[in-house]
Amino acid sequence: MKKKFFATVAAAVALCAAVSVQARPLDAIQKAGSINMASEGQYAPFNFFKGKQLTGYEIDVAEAVAKKMGLKHEWKTVGFDALLTGLAQDRWDLVIASHGITEERAKAVTFTLPHYCSGGIIVSLNPAIKSAGDLAGKVVAVQTGTSYLEHVKHVPGVKEVKNFPTDEAARSALASKRVDAWVTDRFVAKEMLAKAPKAGFKTGDMLFIEQIAAAVSKGNTPLADAYNTALKALIADGTIKAISQKYFQEDVTCK
Ligand code: ARG
Repeated sequence: MKKKFFATVAAAVALCAAVSVQARPLDAIQKAGSINMASEGQYAPFNFFKGKQLTGYEIDVAEAVAKKMGLKHEWKTVGFDALLTGLAQDRWDLVIASHGITEERAKAVTFTLPHYCSGGIIVSLNPAIKSAGDLAGKVVAVQTGTSYLEHVKHVPGVKEVKNFPTDEAARSALASKRVDAWVTDRFVAKEMLAKAPKAGFKTGDMLFIEQIAAAVSKGNTPLADAYNTALKALIADGTIKAISQKYFQEDVTCK
């Protein structure tokens, strides 16, 4: 009786594992022929929705990498905050959503090679707010969970750091003058200025630079290695450069 009970429990556990575990080892992904990828979809021009279509620089990069790895792919989009934790919960195999490689994040996930190099830049409507020093006494908007938040927190004298669920919400807080400045990615800012030249946004200094990479669950190095091999080949043959030109009219890869 007891034996039967344990056998049933073991079978149930095995079944649950088979159903829910999706951050799979590389051979399981290869066997399935498809990789589960996750992004945010609210961070143009890197990952965003054009109608119902998820698109953007890093969406194209990830799809090209998956193809090079001989895999089909599936996308999930969730809030930025849930992306890396979803790897630990085995909800998807890979995350690509403009995460800067940081020591803190690297404790929880394994990063791939970077697909672009950038950094946080100060954006304001006030031309007098240009440098980190100019943020003293000011209210600054950032997206929750980002490297911008981590850096702005450490700028001396900042009056208040306001968190927003999306980068777009932080931008709109600046547009409606609810904050004095917004810290975002320099290419996001560049696109914003080009798109809305009359909005009066001005870019100041870069607060820091960072390398942006995809992430897989901690220790899934075979998957990271396979991704890296494919990414390197696509950088070498000009594919990534062409994707970059399409979105930025320049090459954003790390030099
Ligand atoms: N590069 C910044 C970071 O590492 C911001 C990323 C924001 N990404 C997004 N999909 N909203 O935290």
